[in-house]
Amino acid sequence: MRIEDSVESPPQALLERLKDYGQEDAFALWDELSPPERQFLVKDIESLDLSRIDRIIRCSIRSQGLPMAAIEPVPESEVSTVEGRTVEQRERWWKMGLKAISDGKLAVLLLSGGQGTRLGSSDPKGCFNIGLPSGKSLFQIQAERIMCVQKLAARAAKEGSIVPVSIHWYIMTSPFTDEATRKFFESHKYFGLEANQVTFFQQGTMPCISKDGRFIMETPYRVAKAPDGNGGVYSALRYSKLLEDMAARGVKYIDCYGVDNALVRVADPTFLGYFIEKGSDAAAKVVRKAYPQEKVGVFVRRGKGGPLTVVEYSDLDTTLASAINQQTGRLRLCWSNVCLHMFSLDFLNQVADALEKDSIYHLAEKKIPSIHGYTAGLKMEQFVFDAFPYTPSTALFEVVREEEFAPVKNANGSSFDTPDSARLLVLRLHTRWVVAAGGFLTHSVPLYATGVEVSPLCSYAGENLEAICRGRTFHAPCEIAF
Ligand code: UTP
Repeated sequence: MRIEDSVESPPQALLERLKDYGQEDAFALWDELSPPERQFLVKDIESLDLSRIDRIIRCSIRSQGLPMAAIEPVPESEVSTVEGRTVEQRERWWKMGLKAISDGKLAVLLLSGGQGTRLGSSDPKGCFNIGLPSGKSLFQIQAERIMCVQKLAARAAKEGSIVPVSIHWYIMTSPFTDEATRKFFESHKYFGLEANQVTFFQQGTMPCISKDGRFIMETPYRVAKAPDGNGGVYSALRYSKLLEDMAARGVKYIDCYGVDNALVRVADPTFLGYFIEKGSDAAAKVVRKAYPQEKVGVFVRRGKGGPLTVVEYSDLDTTLASAINQQTGRLRLCWSNVCLHMFSLDFLNQVADALEKDSIYHLAEKKIPSIHGYTAGLKMEQFVFDAFPYTPSTALFEVVREEEFAPVKNANGSSFDTPDSARLLVLRLHTRWVVAAGGFLTHSVPLYATGVEVSPLCSYAGENLEAICRGRTFHAPCEIAF
């Protein structure tokens, strides 16, 4: 069908297809549309994979009513805890990780398609400057951490001489963040990385629907749509043929994380070494939940011996959330998910197919902008942690919250997870590194409100700082760089 044909009356074949799926109301206002608006509407509907969307709507609505297996806690004995690790293990994993990286087996996968509504910035979150002395954006910090790991891996690969190591960085954007993200990287010359080691790809969107599964119209000629959630990464990797791209590059392991963590250890060699030794399909770094009402999802088992899965804080009743393990005196459900994951490429392939086959999305009740003003409707999303139930071998790796988790979720002025709180977490950690490396600090504002920042180009996790810091005094706030 040519679009010009559609201007007079709704194109018959398309209308029939819409009827097959009970979505013919999308053409309800056809008679009131101008010719360009009609063309727009036809294109909009043609861009939708109607049979896939219909399957997802039906499977997702049906799965909502199904009973869930009871929640079981994950015992400490099943987690690699900070207390349980030996120095030898840590050193072994670090070396194994660096070796795999220098062999080109690790890729980094960034989830950066979120709209960041709570932060309230019009730019993608990764462009945000959290107010560190260097003024670096989250993207720059992450890029420099990748460069640092490349350097460490190159050094470890060949004592004395340096072989080039390149870690490929896959960055998932969405229609809301794509253009601005690409421009930001271009205008900052990829922060020193090679342009060809960065691949941008877009996650999909899904129509917003009413409770009975009908499309909501945002305007008389456009279906309301929303990003399909950070779990859209699995189908986006599949559709963009990037799983094949990874295989062609020799990648075997994928380090996947969210953009909004100022302390994220991107491409962490220790985590990678642990993952390889464990031989798992998937792994997640976890921190201990700070208090029962903390707004984080926790890892649990669904039913005795069931696979690991994440339960969102909003789905946990308060009694369960505050239950104490009488033996340890700690929360029974204590392993917080902080969106720091490792996957094998084989598993990503399997899970992309399995999620597509099951077609179950989370239905979130939201106010959707529509032709009737803001109307109650459903957004359809997948979450990156939806992958975990598809393997019996998910490994949990506890990390120290103060070392690896500085979330940037809310605007300054909110009571938690703000750019200000994230900046302080970075400054405090880096100050401890500098003092441990023999440096001294002076400060004209109270130390609890300031500190020093260590450039990721100097140190990844506090290593190699003696030569720069021993015996030197730094006036906080400042950045320590080469
Ligand atoms: P959040 O759930 O915190 O959402 O994302 P958000 O969009 O950043 O912020 P709010 O809720 O609108 O305030 C956690 C991670 O998942 C990514 C985000 O970019 C962030 O790294 N994400 C989220 C996506 O990649 N796609 C999405 O559709 C949603």
